[in-house]
Amino acid sequence: MFDFNFANPTQILFGKKKIAEIKDRIPVDSRVLITYGGGSVKKNGTLDEVLAALSGHTVFEFSGIEPNPSFETLMKAVDVVHTNSIDFLLAVGGGSVIDGTKFIAAAAVFEGDPWDILVKHGAGIKKALPFGSVLTLPATGSEMNSGGVVTRKSLQAKLAFMSPLVFPLFSVLDPEKTYTLPAKQISNGVVDAFVHVVEQYLTYPVNGKVQDRFAEGLLLTLIEEGPKALENPKDYEVRSNLMWVATLALNGLIGAGVPHDWATHMIGHEITAVHGLDHAQTLAVVLPNLLFVCQENKKDKLLQYAERVWGITEGDSEQRITEAIEKTRDFFELMQVKTRLSDYGLGKDSIPKLVEQLQAHGMKALGERQDITLEVSREILERSL
Ligand code: NZQ
Ligand code: ZN
Repeated sequence: MFDFNFANPTQILFGKKKIAEIKDRIPVDSRVLITYGGGSVKKNGTLDEVLAALSGHTVFEFSGIEPNPSFETLMKAVDVVHTNSIDFLLAVGGGSVIDGTKFIAAAAVFEGDPWDILVKHGAGIKKALPFGSVLTLPATGSEMNSGGVVTRKSLQAKLAFMSPLVFPLFSVLDPEKTYTLPAKQISNGVVDAFVHVVEQYLTYPVNGKVQDRFAEGLLLTLIEEGPKALENPKDYEVRSNLMWVATLALNGLIGAGVPHDWATHMIGHEITAVHGLDHAQTLAVVLPNLLFVCQENKKDKLLQYAERVWGITEGDSEQRITEAIEKTRDFFELMQVKTRLSDYGLGKDSIPKLVEQLQAHGMKALGERQDITLEVSREILERSL
């Protein structure tokens, strides 16, 4: 196992009616900016519940943070923070709203051009406003991690940033708040969480026994509960399991002390930035092909995955690996997320631009061994057609 330092400071408030507790988590003399997206939280009553909980606080609102939040929109929120002397942020929504709020928290007190936060992937963040979140979409893990992804539309650049200063202070996870999700977002969430686990698990063995078994447990839970959430959208137990599994998939726990491979995410970000596919759709397209192309490097863990997650024990190594990759693809399709670029109307002519964008964003040596070069990314994309 590799050496590591691990800390996760986010308090989780999990369960029904937990929103009421936020009033005790935010200093009463704070000037709070509630951030949210296109209005789902208004329609389903979540915002009203938040406002009721904060009736003793001074509260402002900023709406319109879009899926794949844009730098352009978030800088408008930074202006609102400055104009109203905001000193606490509260994100109410999915990963995009939480990511966007992390960026606002850092950009509002950033010395210099806030675009540098993204160009340097968070390295320049020296301070950030405190913030909490009320999660409405289990998927990204943003509610309990220190990362975010922001798109500068004018440049078609979707860039990630990380800083220990942008962990949420607290996150409310009330599974009932996910009941109004459209089927497509349930599916997206399951696929995103699945790929987060895979990218911290399917690399090479370092004898991280606990990390491996946690990861396998999370994958098995997603495989078991994901389809049930589509069949029975109001099953509280199913929603609870999905909410917690998505948080644990990317809160640092399973990734401590093991190699990572974020290539699927990095290639996927370019597809979203240029063609607007949902984040999870890009992952469903890229992952099976990346596993195929990189199977030699990942052989030992792929065989472990085949056996422990899919119960595949028959056949030679190559057959078992092929079957495990096919099962992965079938699972995404079962979750109603299409797995081919052509399913989204994209053809071979889309690939050169994607490779160019990877190059422009410094993504020339991806993967756990930094050997997914631009040529390998091209091969993965060509297999994805
Ligand atoms: O905008 P509103 O009206 O709120 O609607 C949203 C949005 O249209 C809707 N929604 C959310 N909760 C709902 C709901 N609709 C009905 N009922 C509810 N309870 O769902 C739509 C998608 O929301 P979004 O926040 O964009 O989805 P998600 O949580 O999947 O976030 C995706 C973003 O997170 C980034 C992705 O790149 C993408 O930009 N990621 C962040 C990560 C992180 N911080 O660690 C890791 C991930 O890999 C991911 O990259
Ligand atoms: Zn993701």
